[in-house]
Amino acid sequence: MKLPSPRLPSWLLNGLFALLCLAILFFLWRAPKESTRPLPRDDNHRPFQDMDKKEAERSCLDCHGPERMAPLPGDHPPPFRCLFCHKRGR
Ligand code: HEC
Ligand code: HEC
Repeated sequence: MKLPSPRLPSWLLNGLFALLCLAILFFLWRAPKESTRPLPRDDNHRPFQDMDKKEAERSCLDCHGPERMAPLPGDHPPPFRCLFCHKRGR
């Protein structure tokens, strides 16, 4: 006994694919704004606004390292590449 093969018509598959693409686009479009705080625009941080990123990041822990004036909180995410998350120039 041979069952009829369950192939869907291609117009239906194409339609479903298009719908899926639209759904993904919609999902990305609705993503929340970046919420991590940017690099502050104050005197402590002014020198880093237009310095080379890697060079700037070498200095962050002078003040944000443990026991310094503004240590990172214990639940801070892994603090590599500070400026990747804390954007500048806004
Ligand atoms: C001269 C010391 C100093 C250096 C160097 C420094 N910071 Fe800070 N930073 C502070 C102090 C003090 C605060 C807390 C008070 C404030 O908001 O200015 C702070 C606050 C912050 C905040 C929190 C802002 C907020 O809205 O609460 C971020 C993010 C930050 N620094 C990132 C950086 C990064 C990234 C670097 C390296 C490029 C850096 N800091 C270098 C002193 C420093
Ligand atoms: C993976 C992303 C990421 C990286 C890398 C990163 N941070 Fe953060 N940082 C965060 C998030 C998320 C928060 C807490 C949410 C917010 O911004 O309000 C935060 C908060 C902070 C704060 C505020 C702490 C407070 O007291 O509220 C400071 C200061 C800070 N980060 C400095 C740094 C420094 C300096 C570096 C590099 C050594 C760094 N961050 C690297 C994501 C990051």
